[in-house]
Amino acid sequence: MASTASALQLQNVLYEKKGPIAYVTLDRPKVLNALSQAVFSELKAAFEDARDDSSVRGVVLTGSGDKAFAAGADIAEMSTSTGVQAEESTRHAQAVTELIENLGKPVIAAVNGFALGGGCELAMACTIRIASENAKFGQPEVKLGIMPGAGGTQRLPRLIGKGRALQLILTGEMINVQEAYRIGLVNEVVPLANLIPRAEAILNQINSHAPLGVKFSIDAVNKGLDGSVSEGLLIEASLFGICSGSEDKKEGTSAFLAKRAPQFQGR
Ligand code: CAA
Repeated sequence: MASTASALQLQNVLYEKKGPIAYVTLDRPKVLNALSQAVFSELKAAFEDARDDSSVRGVVLTGSGDKAFAAGADIAEMSTSTGVQAEESTRHAQAVTELIENLGKPVIAAVNGFALGGGCELAMACTIRIASENAKFGQPEVKLGIMPGAGGTQRLPRLIGKGRALQLILTGEMINVQEAYRIGLVNEVVPLANLIPRAEAILNQINSHAPLGVKFSIDAVNKGLDGSVSEGLLIEASLFGICSGSEDKKEGTSAFLAKRAPQFQGR
């Protein structure tokens, strides 16, 4: 049974929960789902709810309509901001990307069209990116006299390598989905009609596993990439130790040995 989180009072983002999956949909199709500050505030509220609701095991993030995931920050809003206001708003946007990246649950970006500037940056904060055949990606900020501000200079080189990231950021060129797939910016390309079902299938596969193993794997990859390999290995060993003391580890290993399906409880 679907439940809408009406208590959140969202105007620019649709937020819905169906069973173990929460759906966050950017909902300003007339402006290609441009990311205003209000959108970022509503994304924060929706993702905090998804994080705190133990019945939610994963999130699908997508855009309304069939043209755009998000065509970037709202240029009309941005055009009048001072430098000080822009620094503040970009920190706000970055905090939302960090919330998504470290939600403790998988977030699938289902990119259904343009993912430009802040839209590409939002997708990059997600755990996994899949895209429809009409999707297009880019970091066109230099064309507007600015630069990426919602994590693009950091997450793009980590995902696709420094050289390719700098080429995209400095040329501002838009790439099609096949090129995005080739360089590793998206994991899979599917027809638009299959985009949400495929995101759901990936989440269902992940959700069949122990929640702690999933959460700590995401943490180890994210935190490990922030430091040296040696520091990352220490984080991995510590989280491996916590997983190994869990009831789910007992269940997973006993189920394997008894040749039955495991029943994980998330503890
Ligand atoms: N902000 C505000 N409005 C936007 C927008 C944006 N980022 N992108 C599109 N729109 C609006 C257009 O102004 C237009 O509105 P009107 O109908 O009122 O004229 C409507 O959405 C439809 O857009 P287009 O007519 O331009 O559609 P198109 O199919 O011809 O072109 C597009 C599509 C190539 C994506 C083009 O809209 C475009 O280049 N958009 C801007 C992309 C961009 O530069 N994004 C980066 C923003 S900066 C940023 O994101 C900073 C950061 O790192 C956080």
